Amino acid sequence: MKQYGDIAGDGGSDVLGQVIAQRKAMVESLASVRHVVAVASGKGGVGKSTMTLALASALRSRAKDVAILDCDVSGPCQAQLAGLSGVPWIPEEEGIRMPRRADGLGVVSFGGILGTDQPMRHQSVAHGDEHTWRATREMAMLGQLIAAVQWGSLDVLLVDLPPGADRTVHHLGLLGPSTQVVLVTLPSALATGVVARSLAAVRESGVEPIGYIQNMAGYWCQDCGEIRPLFPEGSQDLDVPCLGTVPFDPGLARRCDEGWPARSEVAATEDAADPSIVAIEAVALALMTALEESKP
Ligand SMILES: Nc1ncnc2c1ncn2[C@@H]1O[C@H](COP(=O)(O)OP(=O)(O)O)[C@@H](O)[C@H]1O
Ligand SMILES: [Mg+2]
Repeated sequence: MKQYGDIAGDGGSDVLGQVIAQRKAMVESLASVRHVVAVASGKGGVGKSTMTLALASALRSRAKDVAILDCDVSGPCQAQLAGLSGVPWIPEEEGIRMPRRADGLGVVSFGGILGTDQPMRHQSVAHGDEHTWRATREMAMLGQLIAAVQWGSLDVLLVDLPPGADRTVHHLGLLGPSTQVVLVTLPSALATGVVARSLAAVRESGVEPIGYIQNMAGYWCQDCGEIRPLFPEGSQDLDVPCLGTVPFDPGLARRCDEGWPARSEVAATEDAADPSIVAIEAVALALMTALEESKP
């Protein structure tokens, strides 16, 4: 089998030129974004998407200009979480105008334009061999999307990543070297092991995560008003700074399913005092402090 180095020329596609042009277009598109923050884990179901939306909401309530890019192309959920399903992306001369929640939070997620019965397809003329280029196609598409959206001037762009240690690293490569990484984990030995492997992979790629969030750290029992243990006790820390812990809260799960309202609406309800909301506020503050310290 031929290796890449054995292939003479590029068949006239100028693939290197295309990659360089796309990189330039992405950098230009993100030029006015102060912090690009990838919310990663490696493990699925730990709350990456939930934490992304929760942090974005908390930061937005502090008058930060925030947007979310949902990079989970095969399992997008940010549009649904933000209550923006079916809101179209408007093409304009300057680029795509992103859908915004009532409070101004911008959300770019394929879940907004694909129904829950419509999987993302990367169609190929080589029927049956789609798997050979799916990842390349996905990355190229995300690169084009990042270059095409009018992000405008943002304090923070939160990027919701799909699971998988290798995919985490590939997405970080796409997003570029100034991207900061926040890991999300659970206080279970199983999840911590998987996330620790992702941490090692991210470090091997030359990126030092800014910190981690321990989600589902206990269960908020509304009958007794206490945080009760959810996973077996033990040390499940990661070797990076902890930005905070967030308990499992049935109210938060409900909010995710119903569409997360703007923080101002949450503040108007009793939910504002819920331990999960208070914890997320603290994580958002810790994140902003860490980001500003990393980039004075
Ligand atoms: N702290 C929490 N309290 C209650 N439910 C949560 C919490 N964190 C996540 N969930 C729920 O867990 C499920 C998985 O979360 P999700 O954010 O989709 O995980 P991931 O993006 O890592 O796959 C979702 O249904 C979400 O509503
Ligand atoms: Mg997710």
